[in-house]
Amino acid sequence: MDSRQRTRSGGGRLWRICFYLACLSRASAQLSYSILEELRPGSVVGNIAKDLSLTARESVQRRLRLTSESTTSYFEVKQTTGDLVIKQNIDREQICELRSACSLHLEILLETPLEIHRVVVDILDVNDNAPLFSTSNISLEISEAAAPGTRFRLESAHDPDVGTNSLRTYHLAANDFFILNVESKSDGSKFPELVVDKSLDRETRASFRLLLTAVDGGQPEKSGSTLLLIRILDVNDNAPVFDEPVKKVRLLENVARDTLVTKLNATDADSGNNGDISYMFSKYTPERVLKLFTVDSKSGEIHVKGDVDYEKATSYHITVQARDGGSPAMEGSCNVIVDIIDVNDNAPEVTLTSLTSPIREDSAPGTVIALISARDLDTGVNGKITLTVQPGLPFKLNSAFDTHYNLITSGSLDRETVPEYTVVIKATDAGSPRLSSQITFVVKLSDVNDNAPIFSQPSYSVDILENNAPSAPIAAVSATDPDLGDNARVSYSILPSTVQGSPLSSYVYINPETGHIYSMRSLDHEQLNAFRIEVQARDAGVPPRTTNVTVHVFVVDVNDNAPVLVHPSYPTDKGLQLTVPPSAGPGHLINKLVAVDADSGHNAWLFYSISPGPNAGMFRIGAHTGELRTARKWAEEEVGSTYDIVVIIQDNGDPLKSSSVNITVTVDEKGTANDAPPNPRHTPFYHRTGMSDITLYLIIALACVSAVAFITLVVLMVRCLRHHGPGLGGSDCCCYGRHRSSRYHQRSGKDLHLQLNTDGPIRYMEVVGGPQDPHTHTYRPCYSTISSRNDFVF
Ligand SMILES: *[C@@H]1O[C@H](CO)[C@@H](O)[C@H](O)[C@H]1NC(C)=O
Repeated sequence: MDSRQRTRSGGGRLWRICFYLACLSRASAQLSYSILEELRPGSVVGNIAKDLSLTARESVQRRLRLTSESTTSYFEVKQTTGDLVIKQNIDREQICELRSACSLHLEILLETPLEIHRVVVDILDVNDNAPLFSTSNISLEISEAAAPGTRFRLESAHDPDVGTNSLRTYHLAANDFFILNVESKSDGSKFPELVVDKSLDRETRASFRLLLTAVDGGQPEKSGSTLLLIRILDVNDNAPVFDEPVKKVRLLENVARDTLVTKLNATDADSGNNGDISYMFSKYTPERVLKLFTVDSKSGEIHVKGDVDYEKATSYHITVQARDGGSPAMEGSCNVIVDIIDVNDNAPEVTLTSLTSPIREDSAPGTVIALISARDLDTGVNGKITLTVQPGLPFKLNSAFDTHYNLITSGSLDRETVPEYTVVIKATDAGSPRLSSQITFVVKLSDVNDNAPIFSQPSYSVDILENNAPSAPIAAVSATDPDLGDNARVSYSILPSTVQGSPLSSYVYINPETGHIYSMRSLDHEQLNAFRIEVQARDAGVPPRTTNVTVHVFVVDVNDNAPVLVHPSYPTDKGLQLTVPPSAGPGHLINKLVAVDADSGHNAWLFYSISPGPNAGMFRIGAHTGELRTARKWAEEEVGSTYDIVVIIQDNGDPLKSSSVNITVTVDEKGTANDAPPNPRHTPFYHRTGMSDITLYLIIALACVSAVAFITLVVLMVRCLRHHGPGLGGSDCCCYGRHRSSRYHQRSGKDLHLQLNTDGPIRYMEVVGGPQDPHTHTYRPCYSTISSRNDFVF
C-alpha cells in the first residue's frame, strides 16, 4: 500500500503540505490532501490555515472560506481553526465512478488581500464494494443437444472499486456438466463464460441452479453472487415407448360396439410437443382391422367398432404407433394381439345328406337309412355336437366319420304296425347355453309279404238245412291280409278232400274272390249229417302266403221222414193181423209196436196213438212204448170176432209227420204168435242191411251208451257235489242237455264221440258223453227219465 492511503494522521499531512508549498507560488499556492473515501463526516482532512501559514486570527479576519463553486457539499472549512472538514460521506465510486484517480478540486478564498488557493483532495479507494451482479439470478436456456465446449456468455459482475479492489475473477458452484471460463477484455475487465463440459440430457436433469460468484482482489476480498438458473431445453431425442411392446388381450366375440378392448400407454421422455403422444394404427394395418377397431389418438384406448366374429378370425394382430409432436416426430409401436374368444353363437347345422325311403320292412337291424352330417361354426365345446334321434324309434345313430352320421335300424320293423316314422334328429352343442337345431324327415316302410291272410274266425261252423236247393249258399269265409297291394289280395280255394268217397269238389265250390261257399247238390241229413271243408286263403305276394281254415258244415235235420213201423212185420196190402186170447183181461199186452223214424232228434221222437173209431175204446196203446193192450175183458160171444183199429204213429217234428197202421185184432186162442220177435229182414227199412251186423253194432252201441251214461252221471254227480256241497240240490244245474260249441272245443279231450258208420242209410250214430256241439242233438242219461225204459232213440 502506498503511503497516501495512510495519510490521515497530522504528521503525514505535514510533510505533504510542505511539499506543495515549496512547489507553489504564493498566489497560486495549491494544497493537496489525500483522504480515504467513506470517512466519517466531521473528519478533518487538513488544516488549511496552517498550511497557508495563517494564524487562527488571520484566518478569521480574512474570512477563510470555500468558494461557492467548490464542491462545497462534501467539505466545509472551520474558520476558527482553519480545518478542512468532511461534511458528508464521500464515496469515491460515486464521484469518480471507475476512474482510477479520483480527486476533488476545491478553491479557498481569502479576503484582504484577496487570495485564491486551490486545494486538491485525492480520494483514495477503499474496498468498500463487493462485485455485484445486476440481477439476483440469471436465467439461461440451453438445448440439451449443446455439444461439449459450447460457450454461453454470462453477464459480468460490477465492482466499482478500482485497482486490486476491483473484480478479480468468477467462480461457479461445482457441478458435473458445466465449467466456467473467465475471459478478459482488452480494457482489463473480465466476463464469465459458461462452458458445457459434458453432454446434457434433459431427460436426466432438466435444470440446474448454479451459484456464480464474482470475487474482487481486495483485502479482504469481497464477493457477489448470482444464481444461474439453467433450463435445459428439450430436443426430441426420445421416441415414445409403450409400457408393453406386446399386449395380449382376450375379447369375447359379439361384444357390443364401443367396448373397450384395451388401453395402451406410451410415454415419451421428452417434454412439450416432443413428448406429446398421439396414438394411431400403423399405416400397414389391414382394412378388416380398421373396420373392427378404433384407437383413440389421445387416450390410447382401443374400442370395438364393428362386429367381432370368431368364425371370421380368431385373433387380430394390430400394430399401434405412438408418435410424438416433435419435428421430426419420433414413433414407438406396440403389437396388440387380440385373441377372440369363441362364444356359442352358432347353432349346429344338421343336413340330411341322403335318405333311403321307403325301406323294406324286413330290413335287418343295422341297415343304413340316412346319411346325416352336422357341423357347428363354433369351436371347442361350443362346436362339439351331439346328435340324437328321438326315443322310441327303432333307429339309432352311428358316427361314421368326423361329422357324418349314419341312421341305422336298431330293431325289426313292421309296416303293418307302423307304416312310417317321422324321425326328428336333433343336434345339440356343448356350449353354454346349449344351442340346438333339428331336422325332421319321414321314413316310409315298403310292404313285404310277411303276413299270411287271417280268417275272421279260427274256424267256421255252419248249419244248413237238409234238402237245400243245389247251389244254395252254405257259408261265407273271409280273410284279410294286413300287407299291401298284391301282398294283401286274397283269393280262396277249397283244398281237395273226399266226402264219403266222392271228391269234396262235387259237393261244394267257393267263389275265389268273395269266399262264399255254395252247395252243389241237395244234402240229406240222413245220409250226411256233417262234413268239413278246408278253405285256403292265399295272397298274391311273391312268394304267396296261405292260411287254412276249417269250415264245419252241419246238415241240419228236417222232418222229412215219416215214422215206419218195423215190428211186428206185416204185409202192406192187408194190414197188421194180431190175435188176442179171449181169456185176456184188461191190460193184456197184445203186441209191442216198434216204429223208427229216419230223422233224428225231435223229428224221430215218436208217439203212438189209436185213431178214434168204433173200436178205439177197446184197446189202449202206450204213447211212447207202443205197447198195444186190451182195455176190457172179452165176452164169450166175442170169440172169433175181429176188430179193426188204426194206430197213428207220429213224430215230434215241425211239421209233424205221421204214418198209420191198420191193425186187425182177432179174438182167438192162438194169440201167442204175436210175441215173436220182429224180423228186421222183412221190414222195408232193413232189407238191404246185414241184420247180424246191425245187431252187433246196436248191442255195442247200447252198451257204450249205458256205460258212458253211467260214468257221466257219476262224474257229474261228483262234480255237482263238489261244487255245491251236499246241502244243495244240483239237479237243475247238473242236468242240461246242450252246451255251446266253445266248450266243446275246450274240452274235446273229455268227449266221447262214437260214430257208427255203415253202408246202410244210417250213416252216423253219435254218442256224446260230455258237453257238446249244439248242432248235434244228443240226449244225456237224464233224458232217459222221459222214457219209461232205457230205450235208445235213433
Ligand atoms: C294248408 O293245407 C295244405 C294242404 O293240406 C298244406 O299243404 C298247407 O301246408 C296248409 N297250410 C298251412 C298254412 O297250414
